[in-house]
Amino acid sequence: MCESCGCHDHDSLYMPQVATIVKTSPMTNRDRFFEFKIDGKELGHRPGQFAELSIPGIGEAPISVSSSPTKKGSFEMVIRRVGKVTAALHGLKAGDTIGVRGPYGTHFPLDELKGKDLVIFGAGIGLVPLRSAINYILDKRDDYGKFFLLCGFTDASQRLFTDEMDQWRKNKSITFLETLDRGDASWKGNIGVITTLIPKIKDQVNPKNTVAFIVGPPVMYKFVILELRSMGFKDQNIIVSLERRMKCGVGKCGHCQIEGMYVCQKGPVFTLDGISNLVEAL
Ligand SMILES: Cc1cc2nc3c(=O)[nH]c(=O)nc-3n(C[C@H](O)[C@H](O)[C@H](O)COP(=O)(O)OP(=O)(O)OC[C@H]3O[C@@H](n4cnc5c(N)ncnc54)[C@H](O)[C@@H]3O)c2cc1C
Ligand code: FES
Repeated sequence: MCESCGCHDHDSLYMPQVATIVKTSPMTNRDRFFEFKIDGKELGHRPGQFAELSIPGIGEAPISVSSSPTKKGSFEMVIRRVGKVTAALHGLKAGDTIGVRGPYGTHFPLDELKGKDLVIFGAGIGLVPLRSAINYILDKRDDYGKFFLLCGFTDASQRLFTDEMDQWRKNKSITFLETLDRGDASWKGNIGVITTLIPKIKDQVNPKNTVAFIVGPPVMYKFVILELRSMGFKDQNIIVSLERRMKCGVGKCGHCQIEGMYVCQKGPVFTLDGISNLVEAL
């Protein structure tokens, strides 16, 4: 891996590789699951990184890798249909090919967190990059201490990875909690925003030995961070992933700037103490 730009290989900085869709299926009315493979090669990502997906004649979009690097032979993504590139990706089927550049960006520093307790807050499509970290941790479960996994969605129709969440709920080695902003007759679980789950784990969390990961809609960060700070978490133990409009993904176009800092180069994964001087970051 190249240290300066995070790419896999300088020769391929602007040159997409061909990836084939192995499998694709709907997850919600706007989110679609994809499994891709690059012939004879791994994508070579770390949890938290993203890749630029392209369709010739239409464009490119940065999308997080959702599978763990411990899964070999293919990689997985979830794509929300919002505009022209994502709509075109939704129109593809198994066997079709696309271009892939990357992986790019910083990653969740899981190898440096061995022995720590972990608490993950994943809301909505924020669960997509976190799932890479979650499955990595589960595959190396003995390397970490207590593991709290808190997920939230707006309503039942927007739940992602429902089969996997069922397995996480049954897994005795983790504390899994889920909430919906709005429940319905079929929902028997917690109702409320993701911070309403914090009182259920507060007594079991030792902020001195716990690292928190937060990925979700912009409004969520502020409230989760306030709660974590009030529990005694230090900013260096709070890790966030920021999504900004990106184009090139490699520090050339300036689209992703926050107060002069390029999110595609320095992020998307940051510790909170690293961005506390950037007023516009959160
Ligand atoms: C690091 C990173 C990781 C991402 N991971 C994922 C992922 O795992 N799954 C996923 O579905 N999406 C992800 N995104 C968002 C995705 O890149 C955009 O939704 C996509 O580029 C939109 O392209 P489009 O051509 O379909 O939309 P466009 O036609 O360009 O835009 C359609 C509409 O979407 C809005 N829009 C476009 N891009 C963004 C954006 N980045 N944030 C907010 N609004 C936007 C536009 O303002 C416009 O209203 C990620 C973005 C970044 C930067
Ligand atoms: S996306 Fe082009 S500089 Fe970051």
